[in-house]
Amino acid sequence: MPQWSVPLSDLVVAEDDIAVIADVYRSGWLSMGPETEAFEREFAAYTGTRHALAVANGTAALHLICAAAGLGPGDEAVVPSMTFVATVNAIAYTGATPVFADIVGLAEPWLDPAAAAAAITPRTKAIVNMTYGGHPGATEALHALAGERGLVLLEDVAHAVGSWLGDRHLGTFGTAAAFSFFANKNLAVGEGGMVVTDDDDVAARMRLLRSHGMTTLTWDRHRGHAAGYDVVDLGFNYRIDEPRSALARRRLSRLDAENAARAELDARYRDRLAGVDGLATTLAPVADARRAHHLFTVVLDEGVDRAAFRARLTEGGIQTSVHYPPAHEFAIYAGGPALPLTEAYGRRAVTLPMFATMTTAQQDEVVAAVRAALEVALV
Ligand SMILES: Cc1ncc(COP(=O)(O)O)c(C=O)c1O
Repeated sequence: MPQWSVPLSDLVVAEDDIAVIADVYRSGWLSMGPETEAFEREFAAYTGTRHALAVANGTAALHLICAAAGLGPGDEAVVPSMTFVATVNAIAYTGATPVFADIVGLAEPWLDPAAAAAAITPRTKAIVNMTYGGHPGATEALHALAGERGLVLLEDVAHAVGSWLGDRHLGTFGTAAAFSFFANKNLAVGEGGMVVTDDDDVAARMRLLRSHGMTTLTWDRHRGHAAGYDVVDLGFNYRIDEPRSALARRRLSRLDAENAARAELDARYRDRLAGVDGLATTLAPVADARRAHHLFTVVLDEGVDRAAFRARLTEGGIQTSVHYPPAHEFAIYAGGPALPLTEAYGRRAVTLPMFATMTTAQQDEVVAAVRAALEVALV
């Protein structure tokens, strides 16, 4: 692994977290059980939802919300191409067809409600939104559009744990939402995810599909709450395990403080990069929103050589990334109409380091390296 002076993201697992996880291993109960139940209760309370079900990863969570919403062969779901490919794959897993729509603009890389409306056909069943970087984007307008057109709104909130719009947590606007706790996310446990919904029927379906369509869990039988089980649906093994739920609970208790540290870094980046020739910042603050600040991205001017810019930063020990190569440009999803804004963003965006424990000295190093790299890469 390269020794980054400033990595893209960084995760600190404290010694007392490790002690808690070790206790879970010592307990001898590792599959879904009391830690997972407690995590689900705490997460439901944190996000203000009726049901929260922990799962193996964010992709499993996305598949569950698509399946429980009834997506299937012959259906279409409108989705941004500017997302991680898992958002799109989850639609395809159900047999439904993903239909891509463009983003609002280069500083607003989220699904455009007007483009989404234009992509609706008589076969459309759902809009699957992704809250880029934890920003609410056009969530309210998409919610309204789905309501007007009789569609289901599903939310990929992998970036948005700890993001509110007014007093509503992102992921509580649609029928169901999927969170990810992958190692680079704000609430990172390695691999893990969560589905949330206020709909009792959707929750019941997701609970079944999470564990093979079985009517009881091993944990229920262990506690004597059930003696046997039936299998009533074609389900999956999307269960999480106890050590990861225990770590997630620890991290949830620190999430607000960590997101507040990210918010300060975000504001400081904006201040230090304002007026720098050759780039523009994105995901501008909005009134009445507290955000996860999962990503900090900039868009380079047309004349800037992105590969050269990124290479210069790498030489300086600064890790960058691209969120994301557009999904409609991957071979598996190619062949549809052009999405000019998504394509431009995919060519020109760069993600700079952002993590709760980043020091201001590290951030200053990034800003200085960005300025120096622009001098070389501006052609
Ligand atoms: C927007 C988005 N959706 C879905 C996922 C998939 O989550 P996971 O890696 O937990 O399966 C990720 C992250 O990896 C993501 O960033």
